[in-house]
Amino acid sequence: MANRLPVIALDGPAGSGKSTIAKLVAKRLGIHYIDTGAMYRAVTLMALREKIDTKNEVDLVALAKRCNIEFKYEEKGLKVLVNGQDVSEDIRLPEVSKSSSDIADSIGVRKHLVALQQKMGEAGGFILDGRDIGSLVFPDAEFKFYLDASVEERVKRRYKELKARNIEQTQEEVKKDILARDKRDKDRPFGALKQVPDAVRVDTSELSIDEVVNTIASRIHTKEDTKEIDE
Ligand code: DC
Repeated sequence: MANRLPVIALDGPAGSGKSTIAKLVAKRLGIHYIDTGAMYRAVTLMALREKIDTKNEVDLVALAKRCNIEFKYEEKGLKVLVNGQDVSEDIRLPEVSKSSSDIADSIGVRKHLVALQQKMGEAGGFILDGRDIGSLVFPDAEFKFYLDASVEERVKRRYKELKARNIEQTQEEVKKDILARDKRDKDRPFGALKQVPDAVRVDTSELSIDEVVNTIASRIHTKEDTKEIDE
């Protein structure tokens, strides 16, 4: 696309480090970050709160359309709002993680959220993390990365993250949840997690956060260079 700031697509499975890395790359390059998983989580949280059957496609799509999802960029981090209410903490609860696969399976919800993501990012100057960014949301993204890590490492990270939030789950439970989500993410008929051929794969298992950020940022032009990409 001519005359737009670059779009960076960052896909990968749960626990591969996408959101941590996306935040830091955005900061380093002076661009914004869109956490697309948070959007699926926001719809999931509202479905749980409103006791909507997460397998009922019609009700789910209607709910998704009622949710005004916004991102607020603050010094402390990214805040996620639904209809003006801050849900940044609640969308990380284990029950939301678990049910989010049902919401992500809904083709109607996906179409709605994908359209929103495309609208949010169309001007460029964004890094988006998710599962289908390079394949479906921005197939023409200027830069595409696929982050991966061993199951053991991803379980370790997710366990640590939950512990820091005072959420009690055993390593076994975390592993079960990650494996189940991997399967659902990869088998989904629409918007499945996959590494597209033009994405650069980065295995983060043995790398520090700094090393991953450097690997990605070094493949992207510096802040000044990101001003405009003309094709
Ligand atoms: O990355 P995450 O764990 O915050 O994602 C939450 C859920 O949303 C997870 O079930 C995968 C799904 N998801 C998706 O299907 N497509 C995306 N682009 C992002 C997330």
